[in-house]
Amino acid sequence: MSGKDNMTEEQKKALKQSLQAFINQLSLQQTTAEAEPEKPEFKFWKTQPVPAIDEEVKEDGPIEADTPYDQIQKEEYALPASFTWCNVNIDEEKELNELYTLLTENYVEDDDALFRFDYSSDFLKWALQPPGWKPQWLLGVRVKSNNKLVAFISGIPSTVRIHEHEQKLVEINFLCVHKKLRTKRLAPVLIKEVTRRIHLEGIFQALYTAGVHLPKPISVCRYYHRSLNPKKLIEVQFSHLRRNKTMAQTIKYFRLPEKPLLPGFREMKEEDIDAVQELLNNYLNKFEVAPIFSRDDIQHWLIPRKDVIFSYVVEKDGKITDFISFYNLSSSVIGNPKHKDIKAAYLFYYCPEGNGSKYSANRALINDALIVAKSEGFDVFNCLNLMDNDDVLDDLKFGKGDGLLNYYLYNYKCVDVKPKKLGVVLL
Ligand SMILES: CC(C)(COP(=O)(O)OP(=O)(O)OC[C@H]1O[C@@H](n2cnc3c(N)ncnc32)[C@H](O)[C@@H]1OP(=O)(O)O)[C@@H](O)C(=O)NCCC(=O)NCCS
Repeated sequence: MSGKDNMTEEQKKALKQSLQAFINQLSLQQTTAEAEPEKPEFKFWKTQPVPAIDEEVKEDGPIEADTPYDQIQKEEYALPASFTWCNVNIDEEKELNELYTLLTENYVEDDDALFRFDYSSDFLKWALQPPGWKPQWLLGVRVKSNNKLVAFISGIPSTVRIHEHEQKLVEINFLCVHKKLRTKRLAPVLIKEVTRRIHLEGIFQALYTAGVHLPKPISVCRYYHRSLNPKKLIEVQFSHLRRNKTMAQTIKYFRLPEKPLLPGFREMKEEDIDAVQELLNNYLNKFEVAPIFSRDDIQHWLIPRKDVIFSYVVEKDGKITDFISFYNLSSSVIGNPKHKDIKAAYLFYYCPEGNGSKYSANRALINDALIVAKSEGFDVFNCLNLMDNDDVLDDLKFGKGDGLLNYYLYNYKCVDVKPKKLGVVLL
């Protein structure tokens, strides 16, 4: 989940000072023992082929060998008696709607429970049905008595290069248990059942991200946010008015031109697929972990879809020189009388002219993405500090968020990857 804008250094200092004064007043001398949080045990994760939380990974490679087909468990894992497994058939409007409702009411919230991701139905179809998707990997749990969908987890196939090694794997996403069924150890059963179904198709590795810190991330990225509609973001408490700045000054500070500035910047079309495939795969080559896109992948993931994925190219003298994309993921604003949601754009894949070697090319390309996002009505533009993003964040007025995103591999050890060496974006 994306975090909110951080406070300024002065605000932090003032808050720290007043907290300290309060503690002193109560004569609450914190001892080291009191300050240390309890260490989680990872009862489930300890049983899985992942590195231990404190392990220093020195070499890449699978943790367990592939299981031969005849040794893979053929029966579904047992659920408590009142529940049953199902494939969620999102080609059926009714089931797509059930999944949308489960997620929109129960999926990821920020730490203060102010915002909750609101993936649209069209977004879910895009995210869950890429080339090679399997119905049995869109796994749900229903209540037997009334058929209500109460939990979900998904896997989609993908090919990812991990250092020099090309790995066929699944990307796991949308793990969700209904709020009323939390902390009953249902999540481990969902993870084990989807893993079993993936093993049956001959895949033994997975890639996933989470805000929570589990054994053991290959990389930890931070969210950054660029205000496009600062007034609304301040009203919903996503961000705060900077000290000594008025609302009018803040609005002016974040103002953007009405139209993209790069000559030849235009929406991506079918006929750009080959050029984008080549540009993007070349660019992603310079990162330590990155997907490898087939032509079908490019068509699926990057051809614009209304209100879901926005993609643009820069065309110069009939040649495509740059490419950039972002996706639309709103968050519901919980309990705000004035605003129902925040419309957020998330930076997806891109390739600046010259493979990002020139700072000015990155800056100009991402700046144009901000401009079109603003003109499409987005309130905020979010990204992580991966790929070449970090170089231009300050300059383009992104603020550091308070959210972290951990990247994990299942059944594959991988030496730590710095965010700027990471070339993979999950939804
Ligand atoms: C994440 C969620 C499914 C976990 O379910 P839960 O009812 O809280 O927890 P359960 O009792 O079923 O399971 C606990 C185990 O799941 C693990 N777990 C919790 N969140 C996890 C995550 N995001 N990914 C993988 N494992 C996770 C815990 O570490 C614990 O295992 P451990 O004993 O080895 O530490 C649930 O909290 C939820 O739906 N949250 C909102 C949506 C969300 O955050 N989804 C994850 C997006 S990455």
